[in-house]
Amino acid sequence: MDSLMALSGPRAWLVDLTSWQPAFESRAWAFVTPAERVRIGACLDSSERVRRLVGQLMVRSLATAMLGISWQNVSIVRDGLGKPYIREAPWLYFNLSHSGSYVLVAFARSPIGVDIERRRPIAEGFLHYALTADEYGYVIQAGDPNHREERFLRVWTRKESYFKAIGTGLTNNWRQISFASGHGPYQVCRGWRFTDWTIASEYVAAVCCGDPKTPALQHITALGIMRSLGPRPE
Ligand SMILES: CC(C)(COP(=O)(O)OP(=O)(O)OC[C@H]1O[C@@H](n2cnc3c(N)ncnc32)[C@H](O)[C@@H]1OP(=O)(O)O)[C@@H](O)C(=O)NCCC(=O)NCCS
Repeated sequence: MDSLMALSGPRAWLVDLTSWQPAFESRAWAFVTPAERVRIGACLDSSERVRRLVGQLMVRSLATAMLGISWQNVSIVRDGLGKPYIREAPWLYFNLSHSGSYVLVAFARSPIGVDIERRRPIAEGFLHYALTADEYGYVIQAGDPNHREERFLRVWTRKESYFKAIGTGLTNNWRQISFASGHGPYQVCRGWRFTDWTIASEYVAAVCCGDPKTPALQHITALGIMRSLGPRPE
């Protein structure tokens, strides 16, 4: 993988877990700390557990390559609001998101937030609950269900990426800012750059970053990540 010199702008990496094999799992657990094992292991949904596990490995592997230190020296810790950062390099920002068969991780030298969501039918009641009046109008105007779904996920992924970039995550804040205007920049989000992706036609993703450059997106494999971490630790 590239050295830190190559991180001249935000970069994102995407893993497709459809090729994930159960046999990978025991090896993968060996690369996470006991605390993370407890946290991830507490998740009852087995697919969610794999996504979280792979997210940890991706951050560890990518940070190892960028910082030129061994993976054992990459401590992924969380601030008071749950946002993870690397203790040895708090200036190296990253964020991750997982949904369905994908895990998305992005790194930058400025604060960054990402969100990926799988397309799904959206119930009308949920739109009311989740959106501001502006956003609701923007989504409903789309007419047919496919376009509504598309608009909803664009609004939602940008919103979530923003709240993850500023580090609050989603608490009760999601109606505080309207992301209905399509392409931004939103008044309150000046200084933040939003980038949208459609992935395999079934997923929508957004990145919000303090760096104005457009992030590059690279597909990698779970096996490649594990290989990059080297032999399984004892
Ligand atoms: C942060 C939050 C916005 C995550 O939303 P989400 O759509 O559920 O999940 P995503 O996949 O997009 O993002 C999750 C990642 O966001 C990161 N994150 C957590 N808190 C964060 C914060 N305050 N700011 C930025 N990023 C944060 C974490 O890396 C987390 O993944 P990890 O726990 O595997 O390390 C927030 O709603 C949350 O904390 N949800 C909790 C979800 C949960 O615990 N589910 C249990 C499933 S078993």
